[in-house]
Amino acid sequence: MFKKLRNKNRSETETNHSELDLHNIPEHIAIIMDGNGRWAKKRKMPRIKGHYEGMQTIKKITRAANDIGVKYLTLYAFSTENWSRPEQEVNYIMNLPVNFLKTFLPELIEKDVKVETIGFTDDLPASTLKAINHAKEKTAHNQGLKLIFAINYGGRAEIVDSVRRMFDDMQKQGYNSEDITESMMNQYLMTSQYPDPELLIRTSGEQRISNFLIWQISYSEFIFDQKLWPDFDEQELYDCIKIYQKRQRRFGGLL
Ligand code: FPP
Repeated sequence: MFKKLRNKNRSETETNHSELDLHNIPEHIAIIMDGNGRWAKKRKMPRIKGHYEGMQTIKKITRAANDIGVKYLTLYAFSTENWSRPEQEVNYIMNLPVNFLKTFLPELIEKDVKVETIGFTDDLPASTLKAINHAKEKTAHNQGLKLIFAINYGGRAEIVDSVRRMFDDMQKQGYNSEDITESMMNQYLMTSQYPDPELLIRTSGEQRISNFLIWQISYSEFIFDQKLWPDFDEQELYDCIKIYQKRQRRFGGLL
């Protein structure tokens, strides 16, 4: 299940995707960006330095995904459970979208990337929300990669919220419980506009889902990559996609 760790020593310019089957690129890749804290700890640095480097990795991976034609990239940036971290760390993470967009929005616009979010964004600090909404407005008509930040997101909370809204609508419209279908449920999820991810990557070697897209990843391929998120790079993404391309997806059926 684990990808083998290799000793790689390469610069960004050495990466290439020539071994990828460009006709079999996952349309939607979801990533649990884990290991920022451990990356910093290994270097005797404060945890927030790991988050800062993690933000730089987001830039690299967005470029790389866009280059090979990925259509949706969903990144788990902050979970509904992450509020329990020390206040200083939470404040730092909440400021990262502001920093990220200040430095990267012009490139996102130029590359036709559309910024979107899933999660309970109304509960974010005003400055975070303002930066995100500004980026959404500026990229609203872009047609390329959808860069979707899951921020203040939790899969269980998403399902509860969706069921509540569905229940209210059903009551108003006189539906019965037998009328509920999977496709109806899909329409109420925060991801209703996106296909399910074909590939889910979690970095740092942890093998957990941590309440991420728990409905949507029912048939996704999972790759638990050993790299800590700040060390994850373009080539590692391409290597994950190569592994994905060798898998046989059966969706419960037979080949
Ligand atoms: C997990 O590592 C990472 C997070 C909880 C935060 C991830 C956030 C970013 C990379 C930046 C978000 C930026 C934007 C632009 C939205 P961890 O701290 O759990 O690492 P550890 O398991 O090694 O402690």
